[in-house]
Amino acid sequence: MGFDQRTHECGTVTADNVGKEVVVNGWAHKVRDLGGLLFVDVRDRTGLVQAIFDPETVKGADEIRSETCLSVRGTVRLRDEKNRNPKMSTGDVEIVATQFEILSQSKTLPFPVSDEDLMAKVNEELRVKHRYLDLRRPSMYKRLAVRAAAVRRIRAFLDAKSFLEVETPIFTRSTPEGARDYLVPYRLEPGKFYALPQSPQQYKQLLMVAGVERYYQIAKCFRDESQRADRQPEFTQLDLEMSFVTQSDVLSLMEALTLDVVNGLIDEFSLEKEKVEKFSWLTYDESLQKYASDKPDLRFDLEVFDISTLVKDSGFGVFAKAIESGGKVRGLRFPGGAKLSRKDVTELEDFCKSNGAKGMASLYVEGAAAEGSIPIPPLPSGDPHSSPLPSGGEGSEVRGLFVRSSIAKFFQPDELQAILQQANAQPGDLLCFIADSWATGNEVLGRLRNLIGTRAGLRDPKKLAFAFVVDFPLVDWNEEEQRWDPTHHPFTSPKAEDLQYIESDPARIRADCYDVVCNGTEWASGSIRIHQPDVQKRVFTLIGLDEKTQKERFGHIIEAFEFGAPPHGGIAPGIDRLIMFLLNDENIREVIAFPKVGGGYDPLMDAPSTIDEKQWSEMGLQLRKSTE
Ligand code: AMO
Ligand code: AMP
Repeated sequence: MGFDQRTHECGTVTADNVGKEVVVNGWAHKVRDLGGLLFVDVRDRTGLVQAIFDPETVKGADEIRSETCLSVRGTVRLRDEKNRNPKMSTGDVEIVATQFEILSQSKTLPFPVSDEDLMAKVNEELRVKHRYLDLRRPSMYKRLAVRAAAVRRIRAFLDAKSFLEVETPIFTRSTPEGARDYLVPYRLEPGKFYALPQSPQQYKQLLMVAGVERYYQIAKCFRDESQRADRQPEFTQLDLEMSFVTQSDVLSLMEALTLDVVNGLIDEFSLEKEKVEKFSWLTYDESLQKYASDKPDLRFDLEVFDISTLVKDSGFGVFAKAIESGGKVRGLRFPGGAKLSRKDVTELEDFCKSNGAKGMASLYVEGAAAEGSIPIPPLPSGDPHSSPLPSGGEGSEVRGLFVRSSIAKFFQPDELQAILQQANAQPGDLLCFIADSWATGNEVLGRLRNLIGTRAGLRDPKKLAFAFVVDFPLVDWNEEEQRWDPTHHPFTSPKAEDLQYIESDPARIRADCYDVVCNGTEWASGSIRIHQPDVQKRVFTLIGLDEKTQKERFGHIIEAFEFGAPPHGGIAPGIDRLIMFLLNDENIREVIAFPKVGGGYDPLMDAPSTIDEKQWSEMGLQLRKSTE
């Protein structure tokens, strides 16, 4: 079937074409009837161009509705000066239609595709159900385009460094990344199942044994785990692995790759981001001490302070007791928080409690009577909780500050002074304190830090703050199951000097294991792997796998290591998350063409779905009645 084919793409019709006849093909983005003249913004993937239909010369244009697919022929002319739109590439011109053809009519839309503000309020499931319409929005096309360009740049970078892209199977067996597996029944032997890979971890290590040396893959991974804003049941990793390398080789490559790809994309798409110059570098211990998190948001540098030694003998029982039972008293400044109301502070306290804290003590810091500073009114007199600090000594940072807190009464003025000093308190701060175990303290303060970052407006939206976090512990104690779990995965190599503690003091073993974090999210994880079968067996034993289970589950990889496995290591950054960082998307679904919603539902295909009787019996399967 013929149709009037385009001479130009919509976004390319400019003042250069004035006076010429053009044909554009696309969709009616916006249709406006202004005093008998019909104005239609015609859209294709390259942009929009305005076409004008005069009912005197073109008949039937009133059939054109939002999202009608059409072909328009006409003459390009300059718009009147006052109607020019400098924001559009085609904003200086318009097409005076002489002829048009409806290629395909559109029903009434489920949502207003052309209105970005209204689209922000549309129910997400409805958007995903009609994703083919949702993706027509230029903002969504841009997401796909940035994503495609990221993958193209990654490939170009790695190909130039002699990496080989190798595909690995999707039908495989369980891989130990810590989530539940998605299973596929095997028809030929009922009762047997493939597992979809949680990552290509074992295959990439086997490729190293196979002598590939430099592997990568844009790999689909599948994990049945609870969903969050930055998680999808199927997602994409750049998976890579190298032989004959140490940790620093992998990290240098990772940093160079990221700078190349990210800075290239910032230029290519004029993204509102500052170029990335280098990664910061933190050890795991340092990261927890400074930021109470192993994925700190380094767009702002607010640090956790520790007042344990200052308050261990204080009169405040909550603090003293926490330290006595092995915990810490740590806290955070809330810059500008001294102006929060009692109710606001109670909300912060509730936030901490909902994240596992027993409470949150706080202290208003007010008043600075230095020369030239803005005078702050004296604390309300008669307030039993107010306790003006005496001036500190010459040059003291806490000179003239006043604090207000229900816990102030438990401390001597010099103790308060020391606390303010340790916290690096500034006039106008609210100090927040958490007394708890190291682990709970991190859980709470890490989240509180992010909340303060938001509430106090500490983040620079133009920043991409990448950091390496290194020297993770090899294993974590799982209190519930009473066993050691791998911090990363069981193929991670203990540091050579810590190998001696594998049986005697597992908590002490650090691993050649690293993460990349960006803006408070884990972006990539990796490690140097174990390549000696005996070490691999010792680690399996440490994490509670007996010999039989080791053989059953990992016999293939232990055996492979017995044939001259090279030292090797690698890393895997999440592609979806990279696009989220670049485009400031808070929700991973925005950067995936066809995402799942809720617990893994695809409303567009209505998947998962039931299967018919014949398939049940072919698979040799039967649904077990719930016992309830
Ligand atoms: P890990 O399990 O840490 O490591 O995953 C690496 C990166 O993959 C991304 N990611 C996810 N993205 C979206 N949705 C998810 N559900 C999801 N889960 C993980 C994150 C994460 O940092 N085989 C190892 C890597 C290695 O050791 O080389 C692995 O998969 O960005
Ligand atoms: P209480 O004596 O329990 O009324 O607590 C006095 C103040 O200490 C309140 O502001 C509590 O929120 C706070 N608080 C209680 N437990 C803790 C804790 N573990 N860490 C920090 N503050 C706490």
